[in-house]
Amino acid sequence: MSHTTKTPLSEQLKQLVGHPVSAIDTPALVVDLDAMQRNLVRMAEFCKKHDIRWRAHAKMHKSSALAKLQVQAGAVGVCVQKTAEAEAMAAGGVHDIYISNEVIAPAKLARVAALAHKMAADNGKLAIAVDSAEGVTRLAQAMNERRAADGVPMSIDVFVEIDVGQGRCGVAPGRAAVDLVHEIRKHPALRFAGLQAYHGKAQHARSAKERRDLIAVVVQDVVFTRKLIEAEGVPVELVTGAGTGSIVCEAASGVYGELQAGSFLFMDADYAANERDPAAPAFEHALFVKTQVVSSSVQHAVCDAGHKSHAIDSGLPKVHAQDDEHMLEYFNGGDEHGILRPAGPNTRVPALGQMLWLIPGHCDPTVNLHDCLIGVKGGLANGKVERIIRVDARGALT
Ligand SMILES: Cc1ncc(COP(=O)(O)O)c(C=O)c1O
Repeated sequence: MSHTTKTPLSEQLKQLVGHPVSAIDTPALVVDLDAMQRNLVRMAEFCKKHDIRWRAHAKMHKSSALAKLQVQAGAVGVCVQKTAEAEAMAAGGVHDIYISNEVIAPAKLARVAALAHKMAADNGKLAIAVDSAEGVTRLAQAMNERRAADGVPMSIDVFVEIDVGQGRCGVAPGRAAVDLVHEIRKHPALRFAGLQAYHGKAQHARSAKERRDLIAVVVQDVVFTRKLIEAEGVPVELVTGAGTGSIVCEAASGVYGELQAGSFLFMDADYAANERDPAAPAFEHALFVKTQVVSSSVQHAVCDAGHKSHAIDSGLPKVHAQDDEHMLEYFNGGDEHGILRPAGPNTRVPALGQMLWLIPGHCDPTVNLHDCLIGVKGGLANGKVERIIRVDARGALT
């Protein structure tokens, strides 16, 4: 298929629907829809079993179509990290969105307030995290200005983020969080909705025990902070947090009411390197880069997928191997190429034109490199293209 500038890529790719997987040109980002569906069902069942809400993190797939699929499967809504992601999700028909991140720029906060009002008018809901008194004041100001413009006295749900070990955003657990709750409660346009406690670094601690130990400390911090807030007569309605690597711990804590996992839907090579907690669902790889060999020599082959096809911040991709004879290792070949070398004693260097499937190191930034995901059903070997999924929040960084 030729790539013309006149027709959007998603429209061009739609011509692939119904065709065998072999018709997909390379490099391409492909979703195994059967595996994705199994991941979805496993997450929904897990949350049901633990009687906990699930708010899928849409920063991972950046697609309103997939967000809506998750809501159909039982998610209460989605998290996003950026105002622009929230706007894209809302435009795509997602009605319950939480910006699990801090927004400080007045121009962005004006967009947050406008979106909160618009979503409320459509019976939807936007919520946001804060970690500073200044952030609270600015958010309140933006909401007040919007209230005055719209003549509607609505309020936005605000979560206080506490830093539970990641060393990123969030106030220290304890007194600092209580003070921030009081700041929020000064403003009628803001409603204190609970705590956000997410430990990103814990997600990729390799052993299940390490992750359990790290989250046990997180839970202590949350319990302590919640007690202090409630001692001042303010209920903490909800604690939200957790990622794919630690959901077992937060779900069992009795403190968290909502899980924010995102990567479980696609999984990636970095998550596959974690020891699976026996209590966690067995999530499968559902995201692949299809690539083909464009050059081959005695020692190695070269494929057409480099850093422009997949992110490498969490390591190089793994080559998806069906059996021992196809064990290949991927080496860095730059932005347009990958070097493939045999990784097993029985493996031969792949031939020119051979198609291969790569499992990206990190799913979130890999998806952000692509306009569309090609959804396949019936397997990577003999399946068919079922649907084209637009990454409609691609590049939504502000
Ligand atoms: C605040 C927050 N919550 C949840 C997640 C989801 O984590 P994961 O994609 O590892 O499941 C992330 C990911 O970075 C995050 O930043």
